Order: sequence, then structure tokens, then C-alpha cells
Amino acid sequence: MPRPICAHIHTAALAANLERARRCAADARVWAVVKANAYGHGIERVWGAFRSADGFALLDLQEAERVRALGWRGPILLLEGVFEARDLELCSRLSLWHTVHCDEQIDMLAAHKTQQPQRVFLKLNSGMNRLGFAPPRYRSAWARLNALTQVDEISHMTHFSDADGPRGIAHQWQAFCTATRDLPGERSVCNSAAILRHAGDAQVRGDWVRTGIALYGSAPDFPEHSAATWELAPTMTLSTQLLAVQQLQAGDSVGYGSRFIAEAPMRIGVAACGYADGYPRHADTGTPVLVGGVRTRLVGRVSMDMVTVDLEPVFSAGVEPGFGTEVTLWGRSGSGTVLPIDEVAQAAGTVGYELMCALAQRVPVLTD
Ligand SMILES: Cc1ncc(COP(=O)(O)O)c(C=O)c1O
Repeated sequence: MPRPICAHIHTAALAANLERARRCAADARVWAVVKANAYGHGIERVWGAFRSADGFALLDLQEAERVRALGWRGPILLLEGVFEARDLELCSRLSLWHTVHCDEQIDMLAAHKTQQPQRVFLKLNSGMNRLGFAPPRYRSAWARLNALTQVDEISHMTHFSDADGPRGIAHQWQAFCTATRDLPGERSVCNSAAILRHAGDAQVRGDWVRTGIALYGSAPDFPEHSAATWELAPTMTLSTQLLAVQQLQAGDSVGYGSRFIAEAPMRIGVAACGYADGYPRHADTGTPVLVGGVRTRLVGRVSMDMVTVDLEPVFSAGVEPGFGTEVTLWGRSGSGTVLPIDEVAQAAGTVGYELMCALAQRVPVLTD
């Protein structure tokens, strides 16, 4: 008998979230970002729901091979471009479009022998200071690429650091407009936060938007907005069951380090999920959880294979929890109650992205 823990991937929600992003992106084409194994959901599991995307964007060449193996013939963009010269052979063989963010990648292209010129996205470092050419170097990089017979169309891209917050995108957008002024080629600047918050402006939308986290039902700017306010549906549910119920007396402690001490008699449940399943160890007492569809809280420290939960609100709601009662760590309970992954992430000092991506291999995954 396997442990009762299980993750469900909701394909209808994935498809609905893609449509939601598309509505915000209006006439722009939509890259479905499926890096990190589709943000932990599994490329093969999301692929059917994302078939109506205009392209798939990812980092890993093996992931690109998997998308092609599924039968996708449309565009695939490598968001960090190639890592070594021989990657360009795979780009030719699989018709991959790739980002060019540094001189070394242009050198590799210049030395590459190919019949088929390649489509590239030249990346501007407009202020995030991770990847891309600094504004003063951008136009010379473009000119160098433009002179190569190995290169076909050159598009322009940048990535926003603050599309989800008060600083916004204006400073980077300005740098992008200045660096790319009058250069031919398509443009792509928006991630999920920019799509939801800033893509009302057709110029900012550009030709392609790159949406990741919104597809997976998480709000990029939580807690300012929730997934529900953005009309995004949860795409991953992590659920398990109670293994035991304990009666505590005032002064009794729970779990490693006795981090929780009961102030009064109370019942707690022990659920089969721990940090070895990808549940965040930093989730503290108070982190929300659903038991039998009723919202309650974690108590005590998360251990490798178990968490402990306060059952008092569950009894108060008229549910009699016991061995085998459903526990929803995030996502949608059997009764339909939703516990947003963003709320769990916030309580654990992280973001929904990290929780999805951290789902452990040992957790069985079902698709519905
Ligand atoms: C270059 C690039 N574009 C788009 C995205 C998608 O971002 P998000 O998941 O916030 O939509 C990412 C993700 O980090 C990225 O690195």
C-alpha cells in the first residue's frame, strides 16, 4: 500500500489559465513557459492543455527534445540560449529559437556550420542585471548578429525585475525602447506579472509575451492580488490523509523541538506529508491547511514525512476527522474548497513557484 500522499494536476485549469493569459495579451502571441519541468507539473502532463499556445519557452535542451518528442512542431525558445557550441547543432536539428545574451554566444554562432540560419532573440539587460547586453553594447551586438549568415531573424527581448511590485516596469521599458529604437524585429518583454498588470499597453505587450507562473494558477503579485482576483485556477493539488489523531492536554508539546505547546486540551492530526515530499520545512505553526475541506492550521515543526495539524476548527465545523481523512496541503479539496498555494508559500516565507518546483519525485502524480 503506497503512502496516501498524491499530487493532482488539473489540466482543465491549465488550459483555462492559458486562455486567461491570452485574453490579457490580446493580439500578442503567447509563449507557454515550461522550464523546470513545467514549474514542477511535468512537461508531458501540461502539454495537451498548452497545445493552443503559440510556442514553448524553456531552458533545458533535454526539455526541448521532450517537447519535440510530444509532436510539437511550432516554435520553441531557449530562454538562456545555448550553453556550449554543440548545442547549436541541436538547435538546427530541432529548429529551436534561442536567446543570445552574451558575446560568447555570438562567437559560437559565428563558428557554427549550418545550412539553416537560426532565429534568435537578442537579450537586453535593461536593469535586472542577470543576463543580456548592457544598453550601450546592445546595438553593436545586434549589428554583429545581423552580419552572420548563420542568423535568420533577430527579435528583441528583455526581462522585468519589478513587474509585480511598486517599482514597476517604466525604467526598464524606457531602456528597452531606447536600445531597440528603429531596429527591425519582433519584441518580447512581458512575463506573467507584466501581462496581468501592464499589458494593457499594446506596445508593452509587443509581439510575444512569455507567461509562466500565471499558467500554473499562482498570482505573481500575491498578496496584492490573489490568483482568484486574477481569475487564475489552481493547477496543482497536493493532498494526503490523516495517519493519527492525538489528544493533547494543556502544556503538551508537538513534534521536533517542541515548537508548539498546547495552551488548552486540543486534538491534533498527523498527516502523511513532510519536507521529503517537497512541503516546505519552514512552514510554521499557523500555515493554512485543509482537513476534510475545512481550513485549519499547521502546528509544530514539519518533519521529513509528517506534519501535524490543529483539528479543533475541523470538529467545530461538524467534520469528524480520523484516520484516512483527506488533508489538502494546497490546491482544491475533494469538497471543492481551495487553499491557494500562494498562501502556503507566504506562510513559509517563499513563493508559489518554489513550492510547485519542489514537489518531490516520491510523490505520485495524477492528472485529471
Ligand atoms: C526570460 C523569462 N521570461 C519569462 C519568464 C516567465 O516568468 P513568470 O513565471 O513570472 O511568468 C521567466 C521566468 O523566470 C524568464 O526567465
